[in-house]
Amino acid sequence: MGKILVTGGAGYIGSHTCVDLLNSGYEVIVLDNLENSSKESLKRVESITGKKIDFISGDVRDKNILNKVFKENSIDSVIHFAGYKAVGESTEFPLKYYENNVGGTISLLEVMSDYKIKNIVFSSSATVYGDPETVPISEDFPLKPYNPYGKTKRMVEMILEDIYESDNSWNIGLLRYFNPVGAHKSGLIGEDPKGIPNNLTPYITQVAVGKLEKLSVFGNDYPTKDGTGVRDFIHVNDLASGHVKALEKINKNPGLFICNLGTGRGYSVLEVLSAFEKACKKDIDYSFEKRRPGDIAQCYADTNFAESFLGWKAQYSIEDMAEDAWRWQQKNPDGYNKD
Ligand code: NAD
Ligand code: WQD
Repeated sequence: MGKILVTGGAGYIGSHTCVDLLNSGYEVIVLDNLENSSKESLKRVESITGKKIDFISGDVRDKNILNKVFKENSIDSVIHFAGYKAVGESTEFPLKYYENNVGGTISLLEVMSDYKIKNIVFSSSATVYGDPETVPISEDFPLKPYNPYGKTKRMVEMILEDIYESDNSWNIGLLRYFNPVGAHKSGLIGEDPKGIPNNLTPYITQVAVGKLEKLSVFGNDYPTKDGTGVRDFIHVNDLASGHVKALEKINKNPGLFICNLGTGRGYSVLEVLSAFEKACKKDIDYSFEKRRPGDIAQCYADTNFAESFLGWKAQYSIEDMAEDAWRWQQKNPDGYNKD
């Protein structure tokens, strides 16, 4: 099947993708500096799959480590998850984001070029569309990222587009994820945010488990079905299988492709809350607060291209996402206990 280098593979989406890669017969090497994750996630991936991961503790900005990895292994493709992802932090410390997300990708691409490894799948984000004029959002929509994090994602897309222009023997998948939620069915791996979560669903499960008092619903005056924000929440296992499909495609020399990974359905904050209340079998305390700066009213994917080109379609429902996220939260109230 081949050997895949997964940067950032110990993180939330990376660890779930490693499960699918191993189950699909790929050999997996993870390079992660563990800045936002724990090695425990990979041990659990090994126990879920019964297969070994070759883990290298290191930074994608470190070309010495990258050189060693590429020299010692015959790598077929790279899935590049490593980077920072907190939107709020990116507005406070933009350079930190450009340096890691753009700088880290450049060092990775330089070493890949040196070793003539020209297959890469990159974690982009629906955030590159900014505030869309209409929904659903298809891949040819205008790109207007409005925070430094989103701009780093678009910059890396542009770098990869330029590389492809200069040398069309590269195969490059730019995957634009919508809102990943949920956890592996086993309850062994899941999202493990540091400190108070920024994102909706980890916040909800932490209220449900008693770690946080109540949820603030940011805005109930949006022009949406119930006034709260609408997003395309996608089960992390669906995202994982999307990566395996993208790799299958890459093995057929497709050149560069850009693909949304979403479900095509929008759920409001209140609908998500209600799905989680059912899964947790308890009421979750909340209050309406003012809009969070930088938020958009609604966002969901047009999934036609993913279906026709990758042959991939999300399988899991919002109920699955809530049940699986809750199982993970209950079994691991303190995440991987990394602190
Ligand atoms: P995560 O923080 O759980 O995973 C990222 C991993 O990369 C972590 O394990 C971290 O330790 C590692 N890392 C960071 N900088 C590194 C570096 N310089 N060298 C080596 N390792 C490094 O985040 P995630 O949610 O799994 O996201 C994975 C990717 O998907 C990121 O690029 C993110 O921007 C993108 N993405 C995430 C979302 C989301 O909402 N979770 C949505 C769209 C896109
Ligand atoms: C979802 C909805 C909030 C928290 C972010 C990034 C995006 C992508 C995914 C990486 C919104 C509301 C939230 C809370 C709330 N990441 N909310 N109370 O903002 O859609 O996307 O993560 O690429 O780039 O911007 O996700 O989960 O933060 O918010 O009411 O405590 O939930 O206002 O409507 P978002 P989110």
